[in-house]
Formats: sequence, structure tokens, C-alpha cells
Amino acid sequence: MQFEYQNPTRIIFGTGTLSRLGEAARQYGTRALLVTGGGSARRNGSLERAIASLKAAGLSVVECEGVEPNPRITSVRRGAALARKEGCDLVIALGGGSVMDAAKVMAAAFHYEGDPWNMMAHGQSERRLPERALPVITVPTLAATGSEMNAGAVISDEESTLKAVVSAKCLYPKVALVDPELSIGVPRAETAYGVSDLITHVTESYFNGIDGTPVQDRFAEGVILTALEWGPKAVSDGTDIMARELVQWASLVALNGWVQAGTQSPFPVHMIEHSISAHHDVAHGAGLSAINASWMRFAAKRRPERFALFANRIFGVPLNGPKDMDAAMEGIERLDAFMKSIGCPTSLGELGIGEGLIERYAADTLLVVHDLEGRLPGRPAMSEADIVEVLK
Ligand code: NZQ
Ligand code: ZN
Repeated sequence: MQFEYQNPTRIIFGTGTLSRLGEAARQYGTRALLVTGGGSARRNGSLERAIASLKAAGLSVVECEGVEPNPRITSVRRGAALARKEGCDLVIALGGGSVMDAAKVMAAAFHYEGDPWNMMAHGQSERRLPERALPVITVPTLAATGSEMNAGAVISDEESTLKAVVSAKCLYPKVALVDPELSIGVPRAETAYGVSDLITHVTESYFNGIDGTPVQDRFAEGVILTALEWGPKAVSDGTDIMARELVQWASLVALNGWVQAGTQSPFPVHMIEHSISAHHDVAHGAGLSAINASWMRFAAKRRPERFALFANRIFGVPLNGPKDMDAAMEGIERLDAFMKSIGCPTSLGELGIGEGLIERYAADTLLVVHDLEGRLPGRPAMSEADIVEVLK
């Protein structure tokens, strides 16, 4: 195992920490572009509290509302133009993964020459990663993506119906100000989709990473077991602050690089899901739970020992040898049943998606990411036909 890892994001974690936003922001700028979504932050009062904290610390605020779920490149362009026009020197994201992702790319677009869509991995040869960005502070209001402490962002382009990823050092937020109380009003469905997302972040590396990463395996198992225990509590009682705290922390840890370090893992289920949500605008975590078990059944045939281990460690399924395929399959069904039990869809049909565009999702996935042989990286690497098989 060989790797290099540096995550520069400072975490300020805890209920009530929103009041410390101004104090944290003051170190990085004086005029903040404050990015929010479709209105939840305004309705629940967190926007007003954020502005009050920033103003009390002497910052001025330029509001950029209206980032949509599955954020569009058009919103990124609008935010970057506003930041330039208003002379902002700092970007603050108050929202879910969509708001945080859009804010990060706005911050990079501020300095970027050319259209910000050229930063994204989307099959165009002129792709150019950003090297500079305005400082970013993330304030997550929904536990799901871990975007608050990672260098990634996922943006959609309606014109090409592609959804693509950018990951660059300059996108690491300076501070992740994580106040789990802000997620109290997240509806049941979005809470459950967040649990699905965070679990999938660690199963991706568990199943697609290199062999011989026992420390990361145990990190991943800890995240999954925590989500299995506390996720349903957050779903059934949205006001359970301990459940909100633990799910929030689990989601951050699931994708800030600790679990993935050294695993060299691609994220095939994510890449396929992105192609689907680019077309249908479904919630990311719901798209993942709809296809995950199908992908797992496909991959387990090639790597049964990994899925048997998962079944045993996560669900206590007894093993009849390390490559016990029955146990492997039972683990997959148990995870799928868990997703169902918290209200996540476990088929594309439940999302109202038919088979009509399946070939298109497969082709789009490979347009966005592929290895030298044109396959989707993962264990196993997948051809277009393989992706179609999984989706069918
Ligand atoms: O837009 P508002 O009004 O804020 O409402 C949002 C939105 O409708 C609502 N919401 C958020 N906080 C709330 C709340 N409603 C009530 N109370 C609150 N406190 O929830 C809805 C969904 O929000 P969104 O940000 O879209 O959800 P999520 O956090 O799941 O983010 C999904 C996006 O992140 C990308 C996904 O592809 C998708 O575009 N991802 C980003 C990653 C990253 N940067 O590392 C990794 C992930 O794998 C993922 O791909
Ligand atoms: Zn995800």
C-alpha cells in the first residue's frame, strides 16, 4: 500500500456552532458570497442566523440563493459572476451537498480562465483542472455527501445531460463548520437518502479497493455499523439530536479520504448513478440505493470473498469458507432490506424510471469516466454491456 494524503480542512463540529461562523470566516475574508439552495435555509432561520454571525464579525454578505439539487453549471456561472461583480473574497456554502458543490466550483470559477464546465470530467479533451479558488467555508445542513470536507464537486449540464465530477486540491474548504442541529428539519426521505449515500461512499472503496487494506476495512465497517444503528433513528425521529450528530459525523468521515486512503478505489456505482440523475433529476442517495444491490450481485460473482467478508462483519452471517457465495448474497440482500426499511428505493422502477434510456446511461457513464480499454474502472472493470446488464 502506498499513498499520500493531506486534508487541510479544519472541522468545527457541534450543536450550536453556527454562531461561530463569523469568527471562523473573519480569518479568510471580508466580503462573503453566501450560497444557499431553494429556500430551506431561509425558512428554518439558519440563513438569518448565518448572516447575523457574519455581520457581527464585521463581514459584508452577498446572497446567492437558488442552487438546485443536482446543481447546474448555469448556477455556478451565475454565482461566479456575482462574486466577481460584487468583489467577494470568500465563499460560504450553507446547504446540502448540492449547495456545497456549487459553491466550491463558483470559488474556483472566480479565478478560472474559460468556462467552468471545462473543469469537469466529461469526456472533453480540453478539460483543465482549477489551480486556484477563493477560500471556501462549508456549513452542511444535510448529512450525506461529505462534501464539507473533501476536494470534490459534482455538477450537471442540462445541455449535454451529463453530470460530472471535479476534484482538485484548491477545492478543499478552509473550514467545515458542522452544526448537526441544522439538519433537524431535513425531511424523512432526504434523511434516508443521506444514509444511503454515506454507506455507499464506504462500500465503494470496500468492494473496489486494492487487496490488503485491513485498517481501511475496519474504518469502513465502523461507518456502516454506525449508519445501520443510528440512521433509522434519525429517519424515524428527525429531532433526535444524537442521531443527527452521529449520522452527520459518519457522513463526513465516509468521504473525507480517511476511509479511502491507500485503497486506490474508483466509485463505479456513483458514476453510473450520476448518469441517471443527470437525466432524471432524482436524489443522489435514492439513485444509489436503486442500483447498488444489482451492482453488488454482479461484482460478487467476481470477488465473492470480499462480499462474504462484508456479510460476516456487518450482518454476522456465518461463513462456510472465505468464498461462501450464499453468505455473500445474504449480505447483499440484508443491505438492500435495510435500505427498503428506511424508505429508500431499491429499484429504478420505484423512481419511476423505465428501461428506455438504459443504453444511454451506460454510454454517458463511459463518456465521463473510462480506463484505457474504454471500461468503467472498478472491480471488475465494466464494459458498456456490463453496465446495461446491471441496470436491467
Ligand atoms: O435547496 P434547499 O431548499 O436547501 O432544499 C434541499 C434539497 O431540496 C433540502 N435540504 C437541505 N438541507 C435541509 C433541507 N431541507 C430541510 N432542512 C434542511 N436543513 O434537501 C434537498 C436535497 O439537497 P441536496 O443538497 O441536493 O442533497 P445532498 O446533500 O444529498 O447532495 C446531493 C448532491 O451532491 C452530489 C450529488 O451527486 C448531488 O448532486 N455529491 C457530491 C459529493 C461530493 N462533493 O463529495 C459526493 C456524493 O457522492 C455526491 O455525488
Ligand atoms: Zn455519493
